[in-house]
Order: sequence, then C-alpha cells, then structure tokens
Amino acid sequence: MGRKAILLLIVGVLGAYYVYTPLPDNIEEPWKLMCVTTCLKTMTHLCHFAELLGISHFMDIARFFMSIQEVPPTSDENVTVMETTFNNVPVRIYLPKRKSETLRRGLFYIHGGGWHMGSAAFFDIDFLSRRTAVMLDAVVISTNYRLAPEHHFPSQFEDVYNALKWFLNQDVLDKYSVDPERIGISGESAGGNLAAAVTQQLIDDPDVKIKLKTQSLIYPALQCLDLDLPSYRENSNLGLTKSFVARLWSGYFTTDRSLEKAMFFNQHVPVESSHLFKFVNWSSFLPEKFRKGHFYKSPTYGNSKLAKKYPGFLDVRAAPLLADDNRLRNLPLTYVITCQYDILRDDGIMYVTRLQNVGVRVTHNHIEDGFHGALVYRGFKIGYRIEKQYMSWLSENL
Ligand SMILES: *[C@@H]1O[C@H](CO)[C@@H](O)[C@H](O)[C@H]1NC(C)=O
Ligand SMILES: *[C@@H]1O[C@H](CO)[C@@H](O)[C@H](O)[C@H]1NC(C)=O
Repeated sequence: MGRKAILLLIVGVLGAYYVYTPLPDNIEEPWKLMCVTTCLKTMTHLCHFAELLGISHFMDIARFFMSIQEVPPTSDENVTVMETTFNNVPVRIYLPKRKSETLRRGLFYIHGGGWHMGSAAFFDIDFLSRRTAVMLDAVVISTNYRLAPEHHFPSQFEDVYNALKWFLNQDVLDKYSVDPERIGISGESAGGNLAAAVTQQLIDDPDVKIKLKTQSLIYPALQCLDLDLPSYRENSNLGLTKSFVARLWSGYFTTDRSLEKAMFFNQHVPVESSHLFKFVNWSSFLPEKFRKGHFYKSPTYGNSKLAKKYPGFLDVRAAPLLADDNRLRNLPLTYVITCQYDILRDDGIMYVTRLQNVGVRVTHNHIEDGFHGALVYRGFKIGYRIEKQYMSWLSENL
C-alpha cells in the first residue's frame, strides 16, 4: 500500500510536470491552452518515437492524427459548398445562398500547417470559410496545395499561384458572380507565407490583368534566414517550438536533416548571401517594445554547400521578407495579425515595418494575449475575438 501510494504520487507529479506549461499571466483560459499544448507535445513525442523505431515518417503520423479533423463539403442553409479544381489544384468553394443584386466580393484563402500538413477540409478551416462567406457575403475559395515531405518548394508555392491565377480570370469570376475589383487573399501561418509570396509574384505578372485589392496575413512565417529573433528567444517553448519550426522550414526544402540542424543553430546562410540579412535585420525593423532587452548578434555564416543544394531557403518566393523595397512598394492594402506569444511574431512585425517604410497602407493588429493558431482553434474565446476584428477589417476594406 505504501509503495503503491508513492508510485501513484510519482506518476501524478510526472504527469503534472508533463502537462504543466508555464504560461504568461494575461493568457485567457490558460487550462485550455495547456491542454492543446499537451496534445501537441504528446503527438510530437509519439511521432518522433515511431519514427525512431522506423515505423513511419514523422509527418505521415502527424497527418494521420489530423485527418480525423476532415469534414466533407456539406452545404447548409446559408452556403453552398463544393469541390473542384483550379488549374488541376483541388479547391473548396463557398457560395452564399442569399440572393444578391450585385457582384460579390471574392476571398482566396490558404490554410496553414507548416507546408507539411493541413487541408481546406479540416473542420476549423471549413468552419472559418463558411463563416467568412456568410459574414462578408463573399465567395470564398479555400485552396489546397501539395505538401511536404513528398513535395518540396516550389510545389506548394506553384500550386497556390496556379489556383489563384485560375481564379483571377474574368470567365471564372463571371461564373461565380465575383466583382473583379473586390478580391482579397488571406492565409494563416504557412498559408500567410504563401499568401505574401504569391501576392508579390502577382504584381510583376504581365499575364494577370485582375489584381488583388487586399492581402491579410495571419501570424505568417516570412523568413528563415534568422531563427534567433527576439520572438524566437522568448516564445520557443509555447505551442510552436524552435526545433519544430526548424524542422518545418527545412522540410519545406528537403528531407535532408542537415539543413534542419544548421537552421536550428542559425548557421545555414553562407557568407555569399550576407547581403540578404539587411532585409531581416530585427534591430532596425522591430519597434523598441519588441527589441527591449535583446542584443542583436551578427549572423554566423555556414558553409555554402547547403545553400547550393537547397537554394529555396534564400528564395523570395519562400521568404517574402527578402523582397527589396521596389517590389514591396506596389503591394495592395495589407492587414497583418501578429500574436505576442508566438515564435513567428517578429516575422510579421518586420514585414509591417518594411511595408510602412515604402508607403504601403498596412493595418497591424497585434494581439497582446495571442498565441500561434489562436484564430482557428475552436473553443477558445480569443479565436472569436480575433475573428471579429479580422472580419470587420475585411468588411470595411474589401
Ligand atoms: C445561417 O445564418 C443564420 C443567420 O445569420 C444563422 O442564425 C444560422 O445559424 C446559420 N446557419 C448555419 C447552419 O450556420
Ligand atoms: C542591423 O542593424 C543594426 C542597427 O540598425 C546595424 O548596426 C547592423 O550593422 C545591421 N546588421 C546587418 C547585418 O544588417
């Protein structure tokens, strides 16, 4: 009995230690967030363990867990939902059922999942797309794209770009009664990365006459040159960890783990590319509030073999922050959401500064008690709060 009690106590303490994540004071509903963090942690551990035993690739297992979230394209009383392909890329379309005298807004949405996971069919994404269609009386196109590790950069980028180009065609817009003057793009996390990248690409594309009116980037990832920003130093243990981010970023380009390792130690950029650091220099692009207490360390250069083999990580289509000012100048009206407790926070903030510096109109919505994924995790009050702000911005600007 004595031994049993001690054993129970030990298991209890270990369990509590495993579940307990120190959270900042201003997090609303901390227990819910701890549950999500524990689920993520457990899933990551199980995946790593299985991979270690040689059972499967980490992402296959993660995807299996996540595929449970998929829902069919079901129409309801307010929205007609259907699936089709745009330029061979599978998309889900949400058409409001309400009668409309005029053409509707169009919103092209790109899901997140670190270029490895996610789908327009996930419950959370489907739910947000439905609500967007109804609340904004908009035609929502929620695109899929090929995923890593089977497909690497630029497949993800190209799929999204091809689907977007298909949509921005007068015949297609006519078919869905979309106003060519009122089309926006939105993306979350890796989807925000793709949204920023394709929006830049579109400016210079002479084949596409119809342009975007707005871009909304929701806690986007925008660069992988410097993985030692203040937000990486502060938030590396909350939700998205630095090791996971290094894995996702490197996995976008290759399954070769040596890139991941170099990225984790921030030693992947060769000296020949040192001129790129000026585009992601947090000590000049972060406002004082976010720089406070941090010292800028000049980059440590890595060997040039990695960059020769995997040039993608230095490509502006993968890292939109690497665009020069002349390119950024022509971007459409922009809305950026960043979250205080998000490892990717400073990517978004630096983009805001850089766009503002060249005169692009930007609304920056910084969520003081936000964390990565806060918009789409259903069941959190914060998700509805952010959603309301996001919808009201779109409703005024799109
Ligand atoms: C349809 O829209 C109405 C009014 O906005 C809302 O009350 C209702 O819950 C919606 N139905 C569904 C299935 O979302
Ligand atoms: C970054 O910015 C700081 C201050 O603005 C400057 O001193 C430093 O040389 C810059 N470093 C790089 C690599 O651009």
